[in-house]
Amino acid sequence: MAVERTFVMVKPGGVERGLAGEVIRRFEQRGYGLRGAKLVKVSTKLAKEHYAEHKERPFFGELIEGLTRSPVMALVFEGESVVKVARTMIGATNPVDSAPGTIRGDLATEMGENIVHGSDSPASAKREIALWFDKSELVKK
Ligand code: RTP
Ligand code: MG
Repeated sequence: MAVERTFVMVKPGGVERGLAGEVIRRFEQRGYGLRGAKLVKVSTKLAKEHYAEHKERPFFGELIEGLTRSPVMALVFEGESVVKVARTMIGATNPVDSAPGTIRGDLATEMGENIVHGSDSPASAKREIALWFDKSELVKK
């Protein structure tokens, strides 16, 4: 266990519904530090790079359309075991299965509109933070 960073993104549906602040609040209240934050109108190129692991999946086209339709809030949080804890706080991929108390379990009902993304491993977190943020856009503690 160690202090680490993770990438969290409020997806278009979450920003459209005015839930960016609610997502940030939950991570800050848990005790994680905000190290980067920006609204981004995502290009198709960036969306495809972000979700590259899913490029062969039947839902890839829909996924890219969903991510590029309106701005996202890109976030970096830092703290103890934040990669794993953020995934727990976000909840299961399909909101129908997300436990109450999780972000998806409290705020979503549809797989394609599940509000938020979180890196799924320390390696993914490193890759995604570098993909979405320039070093100069991140702050130290
Ligand atoms: P995310 O990457 O967005 O944080 O979500 P996740 O790790 O919980 O789930 P992942 O397997 O990475 O899937 C990425 C996004 O693709 C959509 N999805 N649709 N129709 C389907 O079977 C299906 N599976 C995944 C979801 O919107 C998911 O967030
Ligand atoms: Mg994922």
